[in-house]
Amino acid sequence: MLKIGIILGSVREGRNGLAVAQWTTQKAKEFTQGQDVEFEMVDLLDYHLPFLGTKATAEQGEAIKNWSEKMASFDGYIFVVAEYNHGVSGTFKNALDFLNPEVKDKALAFVGYGGLGAARSIESLRMIAGQLAMATTQTNVNMSLMTDFENMSIFKPASYHDGELKTLLGQLINWSTALKTIR
Ligand SMILES: Cc1cc2nc3c(=O)[nH]c(=O)nc-3n(C[C@H](O)[C@H](O)[C@H](O)COP(=O)(O)O)c2cc1C
Repeated sequence: MLKIGIILGSVREGRNGLAVAQWTTQKAKEFTQGQDVEFEMVDLLDYHLPFLGTKATAEQGEAIKNWSEKMASFDGYIFVVAEYNHGVSGTFKNALDFLNPEVKDKALAFVGYGGLGAARSIESLRMIAGQLAMATTQTNVNMSLMTDFENMSIFKPASYHDGELKTLLGQLINWSTALKTIR
């Protein structure tokens, strides 16, 4: 059984990312019915991580351990990420900096969203993923608050994103399966 984590990277109060991550999880399950794969949504908000390098309290130390173990438990990932100032949010980058062996030789795909989409955020994450020895899929899903949200807040994704997500899932499952053999 292949295990894929769908990681919601925004912790912002009122975040649009929650609806996007829920859509991704529901559609991923629907589109892969009958396949030997399971999906779990992981919300970064459930992990109260400190800034990397600062002295962690006992509670934060536990959060770091829980984050590490949860991320290590997957064979592949979908990062659900917004665009903040043409890049990835500081909170999500900080969370990724705690990881290394947990994600090494694993596959990664992106579902991005932002005011005008998340192309730059996704591309900057590909560089970070490269350094973490993660293999990023060619296809991503990229959504805009202008066209995939009503009043920039109510998530109503265009139907063509279903096709993109199906392609993304095919690539992610193939590479997650292949990379499992070398770990
Ligand atoms: C600090 C900040 C910077 C942003 N920068 C960009 C940007 O560079 N490009 C863009 O398309 N949207 C940008 N946005 C819009 C966000 O992508 C959008 O608000 C998105 O919903 C944020 O994700 P969240 O609601 O899940 O936190 C920015 C928003 C914030 C708060």
